[in-house]
Amino acid sequence: MPAQDVCDLPGIVARWHRDPANLVQILREVQESCGTIPSDTLDQLAKLLDVPRVRIESTASFYAFFHAESHGAYEILFSDNIIDRMAGKEALKQYFCERLWLEPRKLSEDGLVYVDDTADIGLADQAPAMLVNGYAIPSLDKARLDLVAELIRARKPLAEWPPMLFEVPDNLCKPGPLTGEAFVPGAALKAALARGAEATLAEIDASNLRGRGGAGFKTATKWASCRKAEGEAHYVVCNADEGEPGTFKDRVLLASHADLVFEGMTVCARVIGARLGLLYLRGEYRNLLEKLKSVLARRREAGLLGQNILGEQGFDFDIEIHLGAGAYICGEESALIESLEGKPGKPRNRPPFPDRCGYRNQPTVVNNVETFACAAKIAERGGAWFAALGTPQSAGSKLISISGDCKRPGAYEYPFGVTVRQILIDCGAEDAHAVQVSGPSGTCISFREFDRRIAFEDLATAGAFMVFSRERDMFEVARNFTHFFAHESCGFCTPCRVGTSLLRNIMDKLAAGKGSAYDMNEMKHIMHVLRGTAHCGLGHTAANPVVQTMEKFPDAYEKRLKRLDFEPAFDLDGALQTARLITGRDDEWAHLADD
Ligand SMILES: Cc1cc2nc3c(=O)[nH]c(=O)nc-3n(C[C@H](O)[C@H](O)[C@H](O)COP(=O)(O)O)c2cc1C
Ligand code: SF4
Repeated sequence: MPAQDVCDLPGIVARWHRDPANLVQILREVQESCGTIPSDTLDQLAKLLDVPRVRIESTASFYAFFHAESHGAYEILFSDNIIDRMAGKEALKQYFCERLWLEPRKLSEDGLVYVDDTADIGLADQAPAMLVNGYAIPSLDKARLDLVAELIRARKPLAEWPPMLFEVPDNLCKPGPLTGEAFVPGAALKAALARGAEATLAEIDASNLRGRGGAGFKTATKWASCRKAEGEAHYVVCNADEGEPGTFKDRVLLASHADLVFEGMTVCARVIGARLGLLYLRGEYRNLLEKLKSVLARRREAGLLGQNILGEQGFDFDIEIHLGAGAYICGEESALIESLEGKPGKPRNRPPFPDRCGYRNQPTVVNNVETFACAAKIAERGGAWFAALGTPQSAGSKLISISGDCKRPGAYEYPFGVTVRQILIDCGAEDAHAVQVSGPSGTCISFREFDRRIAFEDLATAGAFMVFSRERDMFEVARNFTHFFAHESCGFCTPCRVGTSLLRNIMDKLAAGKGSAYDMNEMKHIMHVLRGTAHCGLGHTAANPVVQTMEKFPDAYEKRLKRLDFEPAFDLDGALQTARLITGRDDEWAHLADD
C-alpha cells in the first residue's frame, strides 16, 4: 500500500503479543503502514517492548527491506537476477525511469516514487519481474510498465491496481507425485494418527527421505533426534526463504499445494511433540500471505489445526507465518531462527544444531517446504512407496525450477536420477551450452556434462536449473553471482565479508579490461581462504561460480585479460587528467608511461 502518515504502533506491538522475539514482524508492519521506519519509531518501540534501543536498531539496519528515509508512496524494486538481465531488465528499467523522469536510487522530486534493484525475487520463470511496495509483478514488458507508470501518475492506491498485474501463474510444466496428484486435506494426518508417532517416524525412515533444501540431510534422523531432545517445548519450522537465485519451486508448492506443506508440518509436530509451527516465508512472497492465512483458517475449521486435532486428545498444534525482510542469509537455518527471534539473521555457532537447541533455544526441526510436502505424502502412502521412486541414494521426486534460455521455463517434477540432457529436451533448450544447477552456490556444468544426473550422488540441487545458450557470456553470469554474494554476505566473519567483496572487485576489474593472470590466481586463493575459514555455507560456496566458470569456460576469462602479470585496478595516468587541465599541460612529461 502507499505510505501513510499514521502508524498504529501500540496496535501493531499488541498484535505481536508485545514480544521482542517478533521484532522483525513488528518492523515489517510498521514499514508497510508508515512506508519507512523513522528514527523516533525506534525509541517508541524500545519503550513498548521494554528492550534497549540498540537492539531495535541492529535488527532494523540488518534487513534490506527496512529503511529510515522515505521511499515515497511507491517503492519499485527490479529483480536483478542474471535471468532478469538476460530477459532485458536493464533496458526496461531505464525505459520506466525515463517515462517517470526518475533517477534510480533517488526519490522522485514530488516524493512519489523510488526505483532500485533487489536480488532475485523467485520469479525467474517469469523474468523480468519487480516488486511494488513488496508485491510482485511478473513478466514485465513496455506495455506493463506503461500501465504501472499511469497508475502511479494517477496516484492510485495499490489495492485498486488491476489484479491481473499481480497474477503469478505456477507454470507447472511437468507434474509428479507431489504436484500432480489430488490431496485430500487430513488424509496424511489420519494415517499418521492411526499409526502412532513412533510408527510414523519409522515410515519416514523407511522412505529414505532426504532434505530438499540443499544439504540433503536425512529427515528421519533429524526428527528422531529432535523427538528425543529434552526441552520445555518443541518447535516445527518450515524454511520457505527460497532465496537462491533461480529457485521458485517452493513458491509453486505454497501457491497451489499449501495443504500438503502444512500437513507435513503437522505430521512432524505429532512425531516430535510440538505445539507450535512457524512458516518463515521470504518477504518477496508477500503476495502469498493472505492466501496462506486463509488455508490455515480453513484447516483450523476442519479440525486439522488447533486443539485435539482430529479428535486426538492432547494433540494441540498451530502454525504462524513470519515474513522475511530481504536477506538471503536467513535461508541458512540458524540465521533463520535468529530472524524468527527478532534479531539480525546471522548464523549461529554450531553445534548445537537446531534439533537440540533451535527456536527459543528449544529442540526444533527445520525443514524445507518440499521436504514437508514429501513427508505428508509418505505419511499418507507409506515409506516403501516413496523409496521405490528415484535412485537408491536419492529416493522420491525432485521439483526443479527451470529458467533461462529455454522455450518452456517453469516447474518440473522428476524422479531423482533424471539426466540433465532429458530435462533440457523437455524444457525446449536445444541450444544449451551451460547449466547452473542449484543456483550460484551450486554447480556450473558445461555441455560436456549433460549426461550427469540430478541426484545427491551426482548433481545435488535445492531446485534451481538456469539454462545458458552458447550466445551467453559465462563470465558475466559469474560476475552477477559475485555481486550477489558480496551484497548478501551478512558481515559476521571477516573472510567472507572481505573475500566476497574482493571477488566482486576483481571480476569488475576483469570486466573493465584491466585484469591479469595474477587476478585469476588471486581469485583461486580467495576461494581456498573462503572454503577453509568462512563461518557458514554462504562463504564456503561464494567463489564456486568464478572458479567453476574459469575451469569450464576459460575463453570467457582469457579474452578479457590485458596481460599476464599484475595490472592495477586504478588508472594512475587517468587520475592525473584534472591536474593536466588545471596546469594546461598535456606534453609527454605530464603523462605516466604505460609500462
Ligand atoms: C546461505 C544459505 C542459504 C540457504 N537457503 C535455504 C533456503 O532458502 N531454503 C531452504 O530450505 N534451505 C536453505 N538452506 C539450507 C538450510 O540451512 C537447511 O539446511 C534446510 O532448511 C534444512 O531443511 P531440509 O533438511 O529439509 O533440506 C540454506 C543454507 C545456506 C548456507
Ligand atoms: S560466511 Fe558470510 S554469510 Fe556466513 S556468517 Fe560469515 S559473513 Fe555471514
